Amino acid sequence: MWPGLIDKAKEGGLDCIQTYVFWNMHEPKQGQYNFEGRFDLVKFVKIVQSKGLYVNLRIGPYINAEWNYGGIPYWVHDIPGITFRTDNEPFKKEMQRFTEKIVSMMKGENMYASQGGPIILQQIENEYQNVEAHFGESGHSYVEWAASMVVALQTGVPWTMCKQDDAPDNVIDTCNGMYCGDRETFTSNSTKEPKIWTENWTGWFQVFGGRRPQRPVEDIAYAVARFVAKKGTFVNYYMYHGGTNLGRSGGPFVTPSYDYDAPIDEYGIIRQPKWGHLRDLHKAVKLCSIAILFWKSHDKITLGPSQEAHVFRSRGGECAAFLSNMDPKSDVTISFFNLRYYLPAWSVSILPDCRTVIFNTAMVNSQTNLMKSITPYKKMSPSKILQNENVDGFEKWQIFEEHIGVLQENSFKASGLLEHISTTKDMTDYLWYTISINVDKDEPFLKSDKLPILGIVSQGYCVLVFINNILAGRAHGNVTTPRFKLEQPVYLHPGKNDIALLSMTVGLPNSGPLYERKVAGITEVTIQGFRDGARDLSKELWTYQVGLGGEKLELYTESGSKNVNWSFTSQPPSNQPMTWYKTRIHGPRGNEPVALDLSSMGKGQAWVNGEHIGRYWISYHSLRGNCSRKCDYRGRYNRHKCESNCGQPSQRLYHIPRSLLHPMGNVLVLFEETGGNPSKVALSRWSLRRICAHISERHHSSVNLSQKMETDLKILHTHTIPTLRLECPVGKMISFIMFVSFGNPQGECGHFIEGTCHSIESRVIAEKACLGQRECFLEVSSEAFGADPCVGTMKSLAIEAICS
Ligand code: GAL
Repeated sequence: MWPGLIDKAKEGGLDCIQTYVFWNMHEPKQGQYNFEGRFDLVKFVKIVQSKGLYVNLRIGPYINAEWNYGGIPYWVHDIPGITFRTDNEPFKKEMQRFTEKIVSMMKGENMYASQGGPIILQQIENEYQNVEAHFGESGHSYVEWAASMVVALQTGVPWTMCKQDDAPDNVIDTCNGMYCGDRETFTSNSTKEPKIWTENWTGWFQVFGGRRPQRPVEDIAYAVARFVAKKGTFVNYYMYHGGTNLGRSGGPFVTPSYDYDAPIDEYGIIRQPKWGHLRDLHKAVKLCSIAILFWKSHDKITLGPSQEAHVFRSRGGECAAFLSNMDPKSDVTISFFNLRYYLPAWSVSILPDCRTVIFNTAMVNSQTNLMKSITPYKKMSPSKILQNENVDGFEKWQIFEEHIGVLQENSFKASGLLEHISTTKDMTDYLWYTISINVDKDEPFLKSDKLPILGIVSQGYCVLVFINNILAGRAHGNVTTPRFKLEQPVYLHPGKNDIALLSMTVGLPNSGPLYERKVAGITEVTIQGFRDGARDLSKELWTYQVGLGGEKLELYTESGSKNVNWSFTSQPPSNQPMTWYKTRIHGPRGNEPVALDLSSMGKGQAWVNGEHIGRYWISYHSLRGNCSRKCDYRGRYNRHKCESNCGQPSQRLYHIPRSLLHPMGNVLVLFEETGGNPSKVALSRWSLRRICAHISERHHSSVNLSQKMETDLKILHTHTIPTLRLECPVGKMISFIMFVSFGNPQGECGHFIEGTCHSIESRVIAEKACLGQRECFLEVSSEAFGADPCVGTMKSLAIEAICS
């Protein structure tokens, strides 16, 4: 996907691609490196270079990034005497070795700008200041060490440390956040250093049990324009494209989708109007380049109580201005150099000639794209597939039941309850704790309806309880508190009873001081209700197994799946815990992105052609309530402001990158832990359903435009008369206008309705301009629509169209 994504980033006006380097992916075992396939870092940097863009390489090697263990391979934890991220010799040694490895790879390929390559910036550590105080003196000396270690590598390209006020002078302290232009304390640690914003959060990540955060593009554009106005130099969108955390690579409770509400969505499709509005912003900022880059003076002028101008003037007489209205509620009209300007609340206008507004952050002139998942792929009989090789569909499901509890050949015994993470060592999510207990036939609970109570205390993250092979209980923690307790009445019979507890992690800890010492797994098991009181099993002899039998046999691969006998069934059993399901999928044809719709399943993991495509957890819903359809962009954003997906599974669709699929016979394997219905599992295509735009007549300064400014405005498609622009993806045309109204239409994309004012010419004019075109422009003015449908009312044009 890399070349296509980078093309879209370039078209969106980016000049530089920033990426983290994922140590645990590149060195899964100490000294064994992996830079192949999608881990081919040099190839990635070269592709960016071939597109004419720069690179900011954030090596870390601690990266956080909602990534398993913050990017540090688990084996580092087992080095004797190690403490992560402080002045600790064993840690520094490994960190230095990996950093040097990456730097020498880049040098070897001439990838640094100093060598003519694309890398212009690089990062060591990541937001270390968040944990520094915990380590006292050692924290600060570690910062000094990290800086001098990397500077000594002599790359000829500056190093940054993000959020690091005490970064030494030879590295640059950078800002991460939502409003780096208005972070008063952010000055960078030296006046000689450029103001760099390494993470401008375009949305937020998603966790299981959480809602979907969304950040309005007007607010992002506002924050960027404020930063540039105040002499910010480098802005990175975190994420511009977040994509998918394949496999078990996500951090604690983090979903495989790392969509982040980014300008390019999880599937690699531009998200509108976010992508388009930021593209327009970038064009507008670039039209100010000369004044900004060669400024002789940079002045702040107060225009009102919450309004100000920032004016750049170059030696050659170029002038560019940014007019800000920081008021979160009121629109205002202000005077600037003797002209009147209308400034919507919480917005910045950009004037590349200090006269003409060519862009305002709150006025979105970019279309909305309504995306939809379509699920056309149905179950079908193998005979049908044989008759017609071209059909898309699922073959019959096959089933294999996972053994409940340990298998003798994979098990070991230990006294007491073991810590989960140091036992599984990140090889698997699963750890079986099993024990058998004897119940005397005279126990009173056998003759009454008062059942004994099983009590479990766990440090995280989930547990399934099996009593005599039957699923008898389950519990889990959450992203803020992975610890949990379970108290559950259980059926026990006279004689021997088997207790099997399946403890699970969902991504290893990735942040905070000493996160490598965080623990998971069961710490207490008791059963109350026996004649002589409660039985505490915590210190007894337990039998363990790391991982599942099916994982050991690699049932998710083509060859591994031959290790067991699967049973065929036309109607796979639903609601059956601990079951492996396997099928073959033919197709899907076409080239739209595809995802697996797992809405009917419970909790588990999924593989396609042996590639782990992620953990799923449909049964864990987010909290209900407070997901309003309207999102007011005005005022400071926080990640709970514009959430969607209330009371829903956090993720239903699981991306399968096209590159993992063959045209026919793709092996899909699911491991379901608690119970689901695989017959309803389907493949979805992620398609553009409709495009919309809604633009109002605007207040503009009435100035005579210079020739150059006229051309600049055309580049931006923001003519003095506001113009609505619609555009279908490459290869598609506008085939039908669902809705159009020039007047005062109401509602939003997908739900527009006519208002009290409507021009009857709307449809004829829109169809004439747009039908059969890939792209069309419509002027938003009464003249363009023949007559004013309601004199004295502020009008707008709303349109919704189908591309096919
Ligand atoms: C930052 C961190 C990133 C990422 C982000 C949240 O603080 O540097 O790696 O975790 O938060 O998505």
